[in-house]
Amino acid sequence: MDVVLNLFLLLIAISAFGFADPNYKNIFRQTTKEAQNEVLTDITGHIPRWLSGDFVRQNCASYGEIDGNLSGSIPHMFDCISMVGRYKFDNGKVEYSNKFFDSRNTRIWKHYGMNISRSKVNWPTVMADIDTSAFIKDIRTTFNETLFFIPSINFWKTGSHEQILAVTESFNSPTALKTSPDLEIVGMQFRRFKDEGFPPSFRNPLQHPIVNTPAHEQTDSDGTVWSSSLEIEKFNSTKLDDLEMAMVVYSIKGNNRTLATRYVLGKYNLSRCSSLEQADLDAMPGYNHFIQTTSKHILVPQTSYRFDYCLDYKNRGKIVPFFRGSYAWHPSVNSSILVFEREDMAKVHHVYLPYAKFFTHDINAYEDDTHMYLDVLSYKNSDLYLEVTKLKSMLNDLQWSASIIRIAIDKQSWLYDATKSGPLTETEQIGKAEFPTINYGRHHQRNYTFTYYTANALYRGAKIAKLNVVTKQTIFWTPPFGYYPQEPIFVQSEGGSDEDDGIVLCSGPISNPSGTSFLAILNAKDLSQIALIKNPNAAPFGLHNRFYSRKKTSASSRALSVLSVIFLSFCIYLALTQTLLCYLL
Ligand SMILES: [Fe+2]
Repeated sequence: MDVVLNLFLLLIAISAFGFADPNYKNIFRQTTKEAQNEVLTDITGHIPRWLSGDFVRQNCASYGEIDGNLSGSIPHMFDCISMVGRYKFDNGKVEYSNKFFDSRNTRIWKHYGMNISRSKVNWPTVMADIDTSAFIKDIRTTFNETLFFIPSINFWKTGSHEQILAVTESFNSPTALKTSPDLEIVGMQFRRFKDEGFPPSFRNPLQHPIVNTPAHEQTDSDGTVWSSSLEIEKFNSTKLDDLEMAMVVYSIKGNNRTLATRYVLGKYNLSRCSSLEQADLDAMPGYNHFIQTTSKHILVPQTSYRFDYCLDYKNRGKIVPFFRGSYAWHPSVNSSILVFEREDMAKVHHVYLPYAKFFTHDINAYEDDTHMYLDVLSYKNSDLYLEVTKLKSMLNDLQWSASIIRIAIDKQSWLYDATKSGPLTETEQIGKAEFPTINYGRHHQRNYTFTYYTANALYRGAKIAKLNVVTKQTIFWTPPFGYYPQEPIFVQSEGGSDEDDGIVLCSGPISNPSGTSFLAILNAKDLSQIALIKNPNAAPFGLHNRFYSRKKTSASSRALSVLSVIFLSFCIYLALTQTLLCYLL
């Protein structure tokens, strides 16, 4: 009887927490191998033949040593050794490639035999502690020429340009993935945009550092990409006060990056930093991880995770992780949204929210005659960056929770409207949730019903969720045991008319000792599994994924092209012979 009871309790524990996986740690084990267009054949189910394009994902290739006390590890996922992985779909088949980013930290890691215990974290970081013992020698000599900005967060495409760009949160980070004629990723290089309209200060980042270019852009239906950056006038020995801070908003089309507006946020005074009470917290710009757009407006959030110029001043000249050295959580400062009017970008509405929140990812934005709506993933503080995404936290199942909320803004008063704002779920806290996405092609900037996200994201028990933001009902896809899906991506099916006519793609690591990964194709209607593709390559937890459609190159479309040429040739033949006949007669 006791045995039955124990088994019953074990089953409850597994179903409730989903983390009785003895091999869980393996999903963080590093990979040292690149893959080139490997055909994947271990497929359960079928790949839709209409699916044609590239599913790209950022992999953390290495977190270093994950056993023992983690002394030889990279302690934060934002600073992992990074790879780009790419699933190429065509005509019911799939190939996989992955390649290390040719960045400074990757070269240092390789130089030390791909062993973090030897290399230490010996490069500039955004969150991870830096070992400075060999920092100066390695960075300034041997590895000076490699990519400094590690493009390890997200992927963009700009306008009609065909190249996929890998990005981080730096104005100058976009890095083009160079591909061969058969779409093999063969290298990467900085994209040098042609900048138009930017002030001269942008040419001198030593005087005006440009920080916080959000990793998440928005794209209009005509392909125009929108982004923003924070520009900060740097102090010097003779000028510590009246230092200007500005939010610049710009569009990118093809290779042209064009300033739309430069909004002066205010001035800051370092002479007031001796006491926090005297420092002007309101003047500290809020961190933002995304920009959003509606049909008539551009929205730039200001979270309560602030560029703390006093902290930044205190840390100047020291080797400290970027975020920890320059940003701080200030719960006494409410978050806000900067709303720019597209017709006249000089017109700005600064809408204050009645709370201090940390936002990571946008879901959607749209407006009607009276209101503007911004739906976001929200947190009670900045721990998602500071604690949740630490390797140690992921291994030890730290508890955390997110909310999916709507921010409604009255377009007459340009004030927050509490009556139309609030959580889009039945309970405000929905547990570990991240990476929301929608049917972007059809419903960005429009009213919508469904969002897809990862529940228990980056943690044990990861699964895919579909939330109906109208009824607040959620359904899930629970993967096979030991499979850990990451960011879901919606792809509209051919001829689909409903918002959820399509599939959801998601990939992630498998916890088996051999270190492999998978990609799942789900029916977006009910999250039922259409295909499960096993990948012999490892793909430890990383950040973002994107899907880029490609024109079909299938046998049927090629056959159609051949028929078109034959038919056209026949028509030309007829026209010529008839003309000749008329001439002879
Ligand atoms: Fe992100």
